[in-house]
Amino acid sequence: MEINKIMVIGAGQMGSGIAQVCAQAGYAVYLNDIKEESFAKGLAGITKNLSRSVEKERMTEDEKNAILARISKSLDLQDAENVDLIIEAAVENMDIKKTIFKKLDAIAPSHTILATNTSSLSITELAAVTARPEKVIGMHFMNPVPVMKLVEIIRGLATTDEVYKAVEDLTRDLTKVPVEVNDFPGFVANRVLMPMINEAIYTLYEGVATKEAIDDVMKLGMNHPMGPLQLADFIGLDTCLYIMETLHEGFGDSKYRPCPLLRKYVNAGWYGKKSGRGFYSYE
Ligand code: CAA
Repeated sequence: MEINKIMVIGAGQMGSGIAQVCAQAGYAVYLNDIKEESFAKGLAGITKNLSRSVEKERMTEDEKNAILARISKSLDLQDAENVDLIIEAAVENMDIKKTIFKKLDAIAPSHTILATNTSSLSITELAAVTARPEKVIGMHFMNPVPVMKLVEIIRGLATTDEVYKAVEDLTRDLTKVPVEVNDFPGFVANRVLMPMINEAIYTLYEGVATKEAIDDVMKLGMNHPMGPLQLADFIGLDTCLYIMETLHEGFGDSKYRPCPLLRKYVNAGWYGKKSGRGFYSYE
C-alpha cells in the first residue's frame, strides 16, 4: 500500500495544518475546501508558518517554496480520483462527514484509504456508509498540527492490519508519533481531556475560583502549557460542547454531562478564540 498523493478535505485550522505537515514530508497534497476563500485563508496560514521557519533559519526560502509548490488547490471532490489517501478534516458533524464519505467512496480508486480527523465520532459508523469499511480509519491530529507530536490512530471494526500499518508508517514519515486506539466515543485524548475541561468550567460556574485562578492552578501546579479554560477557548467552545455531548450520549453516563455554562457560552456565540470571545476576550 504505497502512499504518494494525499487529499485533505477542509482547509480550516486542522486541515491546513495536516496539509502543511504532509507537504513538508514530501507528499503531493490537494487541499480541498468548498469555498475558495477558505482555501486561500488556509494557504495563507501555511505560508505564515513556513515563513516563520525561514526567519528562524530552520528552512531556506527555496525549501519553503518547494513545500508550497506541493500543495494544490482543490475545490472539487472529483480530485479524489488521483490520490492514495484522503484525510477528511471537515466540520465535526456526523451527517456532513457521512455525505462526504459517500461521495469520496464513489470517486476514489479502490485502493484509496479514507481517513478522518474526527476527534470523537465513531469510525465504524462512518465506515458503514462506504463500500470499503476495511479501508476506513481515524487519524486524529492535535492542534496546532505543525507543533503537536501525537496522532491517535483509530481502528474501525473492519479496518485491516494492512491499512493500519500504511497509516502508521505515514504518521512516522510526518515525524509524528502514532498511538493505536480503539473505536469508542472520544477515543483516548478527548475521553480524558474533555471531562477535565468540563470540570474546570463547573469549577468556574460554581464560583470556586476565578478563570485566571483555575488556569494558574493547572499551569503552575500540573505544568500544563495552557490552563483548561484557555485551552477550551483555543479548541473552540462549540467543539468542546459537541465532544461532551458525544461522550454523554455514547456512554449514557451522567458524569459526562456538559456544564450549563459551556452551553450558555455556545448559545451566545462565544466560541473562544475563533469568534473573539470565550472565557477570555481576544479582540
Ligand atoms: N501553528 C504553528 N506553530 C505554532 C502555532 C500554530 N498555531 N502556535 C504556536 N506555534 C509554534 C510557535 O511558532 C513556536 O515555535 P518556535 O518556538 O519553534 O518558533 C512554538 O509553537 C511555541 O509557541 P509560543 O512560544 O508562541 O507559545 P507557547 O510556548 O505557549 O506554545 C502551544 C504554544 C504549543 C500552543 C502551547 O501553548 C501548547 O502546547 N498548548 C497546549 C496545546 C494542546 O493541548 N493541544 C491539544 C488540544 S486538544 C486537540 O487538539 C484534540 C481535540 O480533538 C480537541
